Amino acid sequence: MSLQEKIEQIYQELEETKVKNSAEIEEFRLKYLSKKGLLNDLFEEFKTIAVEKKKETGQKLNALKVKATQLFEEAKNSTSSGDEQHTANDLSLPGEILPLGSRHPVSLMIRDIKDIFLRLGFTISEGPEIEDDWHVFSALNFPPEHPARDMQDTFFITKDPDILLRTHTSSIQVRVMEKQKPPIRTICPGRVFRNEAISARSHCIFHQIEGLYIDRNVSFADLKQTLLFFAKEMFGEETQIRLRPSFFPFTEPSAEMDVTCTCGGKGCNLCKHTGWLEVMGCGMVDPNVLEACGIDSKEFSGYAFGMGVERMAMLRYNIKDIRLIFENDVRFLKQFSSNL
Ligand code: DAH
Repeated sequence: MSLQEKIEQIYQELEETKVKNSAEIEEFRLKYLSKKGLLNDLFEEFKTIAVEKKKETGQKLNALKVKATQLFEEAKNSTSSGDEQHTANDLSLPGEILPLGSRHPVSLMIRDIKDIFLRLGFTISEGPEIEDDWHVFSALNFPPEHPARDMQDTFFITKDPDILLRTHTSSIQVRVMEKQKPPIRTICPGRVFRNEAISARSHCIFHQIEGLYIDRNVSFADLKQTLLFFAKEMFGEETQIRLRPSFFPFTEPSAEMDVTCTCGGKGCNLCKHTGWLEVMGCGMVDPNVLEACGIDSKEFSGYAFGMGVERMAMLRYNIKDIRLIFENDVRFLKQFSSNL
């Protein structure tokens, strides 16, 4: 029988072949495709035939090889999916460990800060990110020439009327006071925007949490007690606070709160060897602000405070660069997965 005839015969044979299970697949492979298989023999014989026959016979031989390989692959695929089904039902196999997702450190911080204040009877309030001049500046007692009203510090959407991206969550306290009558006890988390260069320490988008308490006879001592409780809950029972005099247009008097550093006052890079870390601004709500929001400043007084969420997260989780918080690199986010 000539080589061509052999090829045609085997091709015919393959047309009629059905391979059903893994034993048959192996048998098929050995018979046709292995080193000692039929196809290899044919290729060996091909080397010996006359040159003028090579073209036609070579094409047929290649077609045969394609056909055999195809049959083999198809059979393998269809039985391997059957095998998989079999594995899925094997209850003796150990289970697959699903990778855990994680909460974003900013979400974790907001949740934990909310939790602490909810326990003290505070409610949660929110407000719009796109604001007007009144809620961000005017009602909060910012004088007309204040630098925050400058395009260099604030992202304006339109001028006259001034529509802008809020630069702090203090705008929410204005909205709450306009709507609600005292007693008011609320915290306001949210995203804020400032026209600042992005660096390891500052970003043009970040989050703040504002606190507001308005009632009769609210005093600075109430503010201090609340913040001390918060600091101990947040940073640990041994934490101490100190209030340094400061200035904000919307509070009088105003203060900046520091907490004792985790180095225990020994001095480290984080606290720049002072033993203290600055965590928020606070003060007694200026009577002008109460009046601007329709609250009688002779009857009511109150305190307010505001903190940066990213800054708190950086202190708590020892994050050295604020940009990491916004890049969403999985290698960074994965580290918070135990903190569900
Ligand atoms: N709004 C201030 C800021 O963005 C933070 C702040 C300071 C809020 C003092 C307050 C406060 O309510 O009393 O820097």
